[in-house]
Amino acid sequence: MQRPDWQGPLDLAATAARRWLDGVGDRPIRPDADLAEQLAAFDRPLPSGPSAASTVVADLVARAEPGLLAINSPRFHGWVMGGVTPAGLAADWLVSTWDQNAGMATPTPTTTAIEHVAARWIRELLGFDEDASVGFVTGGTMANLVCLAAARDAVLQAHGWDVESRGLVGGPAVRVIGSDHTHTAVGKALRILGLGQDRLVRVNTDANARIDPDALATAVAGAPGPLIVTVQAGDVHTGGIDHFDAIADVLDDVREHHPPGGVWLHVDGAVGLWAMASPRLRPSFAGVERADSWSTDAHKWLNTPYDCGIAITRHAAAHRRAFSMAGDYLVIDEAMANPGDWAPEMSRRARGVPVWATLASLGRAGVVEVVERTHHMAVRCARLLDAQDGVEVLNEVELNQVLVRFVDDAGEATTHTPAVLAAVQADGVAYPTHAAWGGGPAVRISVSHWATDTDDVDRTVAALLQAHARLRAVD
Ligand SMILES: Cc1ncc(COP(=O)(O)O)c(C=O)c1O
Repeated sequence: MQRPDWQGPLDLAATAARRWLDGVGDRPIRPDADLAEQLAAFDRPLPSGPSAASTVVADLVARAEPGLLAINSPRFHGWVMGGVTPAGLAADWLVSTWDQNAGMATPTPTTTAIEHVAARWIRELLGFDEDASVGFVTGGTMANLVCLAAARDAVLQAHGWDVESRGLVGGPAVRVIGSDHTHTAVGKALRILGLGQDRLVRVNTDANARIDPDALATAVAGAPGPLIVTVQAGDVHTGGIDHFDAIADVLDDVREHHPPGGVWLHVDGAVGLWAMASPRLRPSFAGVERADSWSTDAHKWLNTPYDCGIAITRHAAAHRRAFSMAGDYLVIDEAMANPGDWAPEMSRRARGVPVWATLASLGRAGVVEVVERTHHMAVRCARLLDAQDGVEVLNEVELNQVLVRFVDDAGEATTHTPAVLAAVQADGVAYPTHAAWGGGPAVRISVSHWATDTDDVDRTVAALLQAHARLRAVD
């Protein structure tokens, strides 16, 4: 066999990676090239024959870099996107290098063991029971889907219906209740699960997007059929954390009229679940442990590389019934479930390994420090902005999200707020993104990067205020 040239392409990739990472805090955050330019840059016919790997990698780097958005800059505040930590990134490289298919437990013992320990660390860090089931999936959308699939299984089992073998057709109708701020990812999960997104009954929320427990009590009353309630630990706009104790009390009352297991409470914690590690923020999550399942993202506030989400349930049997696979050629071990039994994929990437490495390098104290510092940075950002003329902070900062509106001298935000955002993004020092809130436009600033500090936040605030002042002068 001809020995492949690993050194050439890997050295080129490592050099390019180092250059990118060393400069990412100083370069403009917006891409230099737009989509049309990048389509043109990569547009060429399928090569008719082979090329040297080094040539391919050098070409890839040269064409790619102009179109990269610097998401792993500490002043990237778009959507809810973290950066990558050194340990998590290096571990992610090794996951690709080792090329383990991590769907079965015993054939790939290293990755199985690492993911097993990572799952235990997550339970310990966030305070879940030691028998909670954990599945590593691709992101928050899939984590919601996995939890809701387990919920669908359990609430239908409680009514004597085996959805895994019989499907939904002809079975008891499942009611699903959320809020008018339930994330679109939950709707997508309901579509995929055959429940349909229009099944979601949307209960009113308060000014910070938290579900109204009294309105929930009214919504859940009625026939004791299969019932799933989905709430949030961190609204995507406001970071609002639902009042779990009040919600769980409502459901405890309802459970008395349902068969055991017929009611399931799910928490979508894509944005905020990691804040449960913080003793300072933990009181805001009081009662969260009374839920049946929780989903979160590691690629948001834990700052692992994409793509990594986590589905956690208190009902391992339902979780496993929904996802286990059998086959004469599969290796099934009685002592340990296959990692693929907790996730939709059969062949799967060992995406729990970068989680393990990130947690190993930060430790409990490091996760708490990142969460508390970035929360503090979001509070600082809101305070600095709110003190300014023509600037209104629209949310109560519970976690790492700040919603802000800019008005011109005539009191108009409709064009002024998007203009301020566009100017800041074009300038390149900071990169918040947009939101619609309370019938008008808003700028959303997410402080999710593990390294964001006072200097970064002050530069972001300065960029926003300069654009606001400049555009007010010409309005
Ligand atoms: C509350 C909430 N749930 C789910 C998701 C979907 O997560 P992902 O993009 O990782 O699929 C998001 C994404 O921002 C979110 O904010």
